[in-house]
Amino acid sequence: MHTRRPIIIANWKLNGGLDLLCTSVASFIGKHHEAEIVVCPPYIYIREMLNFLRHSEVFIGSQNVSKFESGAYTGETSAQMLKEAGCEFCLIGHSERRSMFRENNASCQIKVARALANKLTPVLCIGENEEQRDNQVTKDVLTRQLEESLEGIELTGDDICIAYEPVWAIGTGNAASPEIAQEVHQFIRQELTCLYGAETAQKIRLLYGGSVNKNNAKDLLSQQDIDGLLVGGASLDPDHFLAICQQATIQAEAQLV
Ligand code: PGA
Repeated sequence: MHTRRPIIIANWKLNGGLDLLCTSVASFIGKHHEAEIVVCPPYIYIREMLNFLRHSEVFIGSQNVSKFESGAYTGETSAQMLKEAGCEFCLIGHSERRSMFRENNASCQIKVARALANKLTPVLCIGENEEQRDNQVTKDVLTRQLEESLEGIELTGDDICIAYEPVWAIGTGNAASPEIAQEVHQFIRQELTCLYGAETAQKIRLLYGGSVNKNNAKDLLSQQDIDGLLVGGASLDPDHFLAICQQATIQAEAQLV
């Protein structure tokens, strides 16, 4: 049985300005947290955020990465550039990117490979939409997302995170219940066991995302297969974000005893 270090990732999306983002993480400066904490600012703020957080243990992630390495791809940012800029993580295949920017499992697969090749930890986002949930095809959707996005990718387990984000829960205030989230996370770990074997699957951290806030974080994090949370809206609020991270720290400390 592996212990997986709890992880909280803030997805700040297209929100700013820099002052607001700094305020939401100011309380982390000079503090030790047993849980891993990552913030994903808009690209343009990565450097400033790294500087602002230099006396903290908070990591920086990107919200996306190009599937291209270099060349004539206007507006793109490569995995190598993100690594050079100081990122340690990158979100891949967030549902907003899938629905609004035509990303699909095939593009996610290339991005995961690029991230791994550049020693960025990919946070692969998967999840069903409302219609798929109502048609009871959630498991089929997730299996396909995992198989296609990870096709041909070799993993050790501690080199990737998978975020389960049901699309119907994102930004709606309607989070999945801890029990339903646990059931789905358990299923995802089973699928990863089929793909990579039990030892690797036990090491992969699975995050839940979708309307996480300071009130539901504890119950979600206490589920056996939920190792972390991907937080959108509530990560912009210093009070909520700190409380969510504190819950993860309590969870991490409980693992140490
Ligand atoms: P939310 O967003 O917490 O605002 O629902 C989560 C996400 O999109 O990652």
